[in-house]
This record gives sequence, C-alpha cells and structure tokens, in this order.
Amino acid sequence: MKVTVVGAGGNVGSTVSMSIAQRDFAKEVVMVDIVKEKDGEKFYPSKGRALDQWESSPIHKFDTKLTGTVDYEDTAGSDVCVITAGVPRRPGMSRDDLLEINANIVGSVTEQLVKHSPNTILIIVSNPLDVMAQVAYETSGLDSNRVMGMAGILDTARYRSFLAEELDVSPKDIQALLLGGHGDTMVPLPRFTTISGMPVTQFIDEDKLDEIVERTKGGGGELVNLMGTSAWYAPGAAAAQMVEAIILDQNRVFPCAAYLNGEYGHEELFLGVPVKLGKDGIKKIIEVDLNDEEQQLMDTSADHVHSVLSEFRKLMDK
Ligand code: NAI
Ligand code: 2OP
Repeated sequence: MKVTVVGAGGNVGSTVSMSIAQRDFAKEVVMVDIVKEKDGEKFYPSKGRALDQWESSPIHKFDTKLTGTVDYEDTAGSDVCVITAGVPRRPGMSRDDLLEINANIVGSVTEQLVKHSPNTILIIVSNPLDVMAQVAYETSGLDSNRVMGMAGILDTARYRSFLAEELDVSPKDIQALLLGGHGDTMVPLPRFTTISGMPVTQFIDEDKLDEIVERTKGGGGELVNLMGTSAWYAPGAAAAQMVEAIILDQNRVFPCAAYLNGEYGHEELFLGVPVKLGKDGIKKIIEVDLNDEEQQLMDTSADHVHSVLSEFRKLMDK
C-alpha cells in the first residue's frame, strides 16, 4: 500500500511519515514538499528528510520505503494521501488566521493529488482544520467518506495525557470522546470519559476536571507559546494512526473531522465526530445521544466553523 504525505519537508509531515514507517504497515511513503531557496541556493527538504528517515530503517527495523520528491507524478496510485502543507501558527495567531494562505495551498495540493490518484483517501491536517477539510472535499470531487480531517485523535490524546498525569494512571487506560471543531470551541465530553470503563467523574473533582477540559481546549496554543510554532509529535502520531486504520482496514473508532449530512443536527460542513475508520475511509459516522448542554456546545462549535467557512467563501468570491 502506498501513502503520500504532502508538506513532508516540514514538522508535522515529516513526523507523520516517520510514524508510519516505524509502524511498518505500508509498502512505501512518498514525501512531497516544494523546492526552497535560500541565498541563491536550492534545497529539497522532502528529499532530505526522506533520506534521513530511510537511513534510520536498520536501527528502527522497518521496511517501509521512504522517498522524497517535488513531483506529483511520483505520488500516482496512492491509497491514502495526508495533507500537512501550509503555514503553522505563530504566537498570537489563531488557527483561523491561516485561512487564506492555507486554503490556496490545500486547494492546489488536492488538485495535484487527485489528478494522479483519482481514487485516493485524503486526510487533511492543515489549519484551520475543519474548513481545510471542506476545501479539499470540494476541490477533490471525492465522495465524502474519502475525505476527513485529523484533529480529534490529537485533542483527545492531549486530554487523556493531562488526565493520566493528574490521576497518576497510565494514559493507555484512559478512553475519551471529544466532538466539534478543532479550535477553542472543541467539546471534550467528561460524561464519555472513562478509566478502563470506570467513569472518570468518580476519580476527580469537578473543578479539576473543568481545569483539564480548559487546558485541552487551549492545548495547541500552550505549545505555540512554548515553541514559537505549533506542535508536531502528537499531531504526526495521530495522523499516522488514521492512515494505519485505513490501510489495515481496522474499523477503529476515532473522533475525526467528517462531512455531516444531518448528523448531530448539522449539514454540509466538516465537524469532529466519532467515526468508524477502515479501507473505504469513513465507513460510518457514529451518533451518540447528547444531553442539552453537550448539544449546545456542539452547536456553538458548529457556528464557529460556519463563520470561518463563510469567511473562506467571501475570500474566494473576491
Ligand atoms: P511547517 O512549516 O513545519 O511545514 C509545512 C510544510 O508545508 C513546509 O515544509 C512547506 O514548505 C510546505 N508547503 C507549503 N506550501 C506547499 C505546497 N504548495 N506544496 C507542498 N508543500 C508545501 O508547518 P507544520 O508545523 O508542519 O504545520 C503544518 C500545518 O499543520 C499547519 O497548517 C498547522 O497549523 C497544521 N497543524 C494541524 C494540526 C491539527 O491538529 N490538525 C496540528 C499541528 C499542525
Ligand atoms: C495544534 O492543535 C496548532 O492545530 C495545531 O497543535
């Protein structure tokens, strides 16, 4: 099975590629980026990072062949393509500030990818995530089950890691669900959070849990403030987990940004919801019963995604 990662000369894309190779479930990973120029010299970050990662194969013990390129012909016949191309946040920026520049990049990258792999599955990582997934969906002409965004696995991983630290238990034993857009309006759901099946609310007081929920919502910003740019290790691992579920047809259940057609009361937009992920991409959007408060939070999150989407439509009409 062949996977392409675009933006792979950058932080998230190279980490997605490396995580896929280390898990060793794909035949090859094609890493695409642009040619960079500095002081009159040309550089090929995707080729450099691919070579560096391939040279680690004897140590990490994987067979997955990594190659770097700037030519989309090399991506032909990809089963799954991950788009991380674009610019990341800097301190003081929100994900939405990246809208115009990343929409143009994601649109042109999508065109190139589907031209060479007309039956591929697209996983979008570039921000603002939910709207970039919509850009890719509308540009690609693919069925909506074949286009999705990565955010929920990352956001729940942050939530689970904070809970594990607070409760002094293994992060492996914390299960959680998080809905909504990838932004400050995301909706972590304490009611669906368990420690090996036991409700988390029995182990932590409400104020502390609220604090962790708020930290999760600002988890991306916390890292931007620490590093001057956005995160890549957990985002890269999260996107690789989605690729693995699709390539190995695992029917994993994850929160992902999916195109809604009335589910959770919303339609014609991408929003984070639980899905079953396997060889056809999103095999099913899973609907859980939300209480009034949870539905209200979901609606507020959807309103925010709608507002960024209309901003995008206005930009395109200019
Ligand atoms: P980065 O700057 O390290 O890498 C981005 C790469 O995209 C660069 O190497 C750049 O040359 C490449 N690129 C730009 N235009 C391109 C084009 N037309 N074709 C091919 N490649 C192109 O940025 P980083 O940190 O890897 O972040 C990438 C994106 O992922 C950002 O938009 C960031 O906000 C987003 N992100 C999303 C997350 C999520 O949870 N969905 C988590 C972390 C980052
Ligand atoms: C993150 O959540 C910025 O979306 C990126 O780390």
